[in-house]
Amino acid sequence: MRTVITGGTVVTAADTFKAEVVIDDGKIAKLTTHFGGTADETIDATGKYVFPGGIDAHTHLDMPFGGTVSSDDFETGTIAAAHGGTTTLIDFAIQQKGGSLRQALDAWHGKAEGKAAIDYGFHMIATDVPPPAIEEMGALVREGVTSFKLFMAYPGVLLLDDQSIFRAMLRAGELGALICMHAETGLPIDILVQRAVAAGKRAPIYHALTRPEAAEATGTERALALAEMAGVPVYIVHLSAQRALERVMEARDRGQPAYAETCPQYLFCSEDDLARDGFEGAKFVCTPPLRPKHHHEHLWRGLRNYDLQVVSTDHCPFCMKEQKELGKDDFSKIPNGMPGVETRLYLLWDGVRAGKISLNRFVEITSAAPAKIFGLYPRKGTIALGADADLVVWDPDKRHTLSVKTLHMRVDYSPFEGREMVGAPTHVLQRGRVLVKDGKFLGRPGQGQFLRRGTWSL
Ligand code: URP
Ligand code: ZN
Ligand code: ZN
Repeated sequence: MRTVITGGTVVTAADTFKAEVVIDDGKIAKLTTHFGGTADETIDATGKYVFPGGIDAHTHLDMPFGGTVSSDDFETGTIAAAHGGTTTLIDFAIQQKGGSLRQALDAWHGKAEGKAAIDYGFHMIATDVPPPAIEEMGALVREGVTSFKLFMAYPGVLLLDDQSIFRAMLRAGELGALICMHAETGLPIDILVQRAVAAGKRAPIYHALTRPEAAEATGTERALALAEMAGVPVYIVHLSAQRALERVMEARDRGQPAYAETCPQYLFCSEDDLARDGFEGAKFVCTPPLRPKHHHEHLWRGLRNYDLQVVSTDHCPFCMKEQKELGKDDFSKIPNGMPGVETRLYLLWDGVRAGKISLNRFVEITSAAPAKIFGLYPRKGTIALGADADLVVWDPDKRHTLSVKTLHMRVDYSPFEGREMVGAPTHVLQRGRVLVKDGKFLGRPGQGQFLRRGTWSL
């Protein structure tokens, strides 16, 4: 099967050039100024960009959390992702306390198989690391699960103590794996939460007021120091605040292999959203919390200056009805998480249009950098000979309005309801097959492949 994309401007993290893209059997076979041969399908990309498919390195599909389960499963979540130009995601398998890593991985394979419409990998969330679990980490890495997420927050649920964190880090370092860290110091946060609830401070805004920037800054510093001591690369997930970013910059300046991602909600939403009237703020409860607006400029600067490497979504949707509502009378019971897997490229394109990031940097933070950091490059994350033909044909002028009525995520609200956007995909291809064309999904659940990722090698 041969497909040719004609007339477009190819954009990678490094280059921008006019080329025809020839795809043979799912792989990029030629990049040429003029391809005279025949093709089974031709896509006219005149006036459009051709990007590598988006890679979202942080999603939670079908995830039990906060007394409920995230509302998108691997079918609905991956179809929504495809609509927004994302062709690969890396989700999180979660070890049950007292359970094995193997059981967790098997469970998450079961959730994804036959359902995922785009390619996917897994990080492993380790919640309990006695010697047998530490031993098991080797088998997982050999099976392509080459990153482990550890939590400094959510006591009694996901939090690991420093000795456990350090043991897991030492082992990950030996195996060439990467540690992803939820870097908020959770035990004092819990006391602030208990005091707020006892004092009758129960509205969604208290989610932010009980999880201050200092808790994230000290968590980030501790995560970086432990990773340095263990000799392991570390990736700070969902970084939300200036002081946490400064800790990452210092570590990187010292030469430490340290990376960090932020998410669109930390670039576009703020504490003001949590303070909306009534229970509206619940739509914006995620962890770390949304920060005051002045953090936005620091995060954008971090993205521009290579201090932040990735924008992923932390897509963890819960409906207002029956899910967020669990915390109607107590913010601490609102399931933490926001929807976003579909809207990441739309929102970041705003950053390109506003001159906050370049075209090539847009491709880098949404595709090339996560591919490199998480062992998928150059199969994913670029447009080069032999790479998977995961491609987005992007119309930079397409106008549309974000709304729960037209988005595809299985959740009953959009945090960006009514926001007018410019820029959207006309075609999204995975391994050469058209998944989405002019807003219509043409793929099928189950065609996404599990990706065995390589070990860390930057
Ligand atoms: O609010 C969030 N971030 N929910 C998902 C769990 C996590 O910490 O990533
Ligand atoms: Zn987290
Ligand atoms: Zn998360």
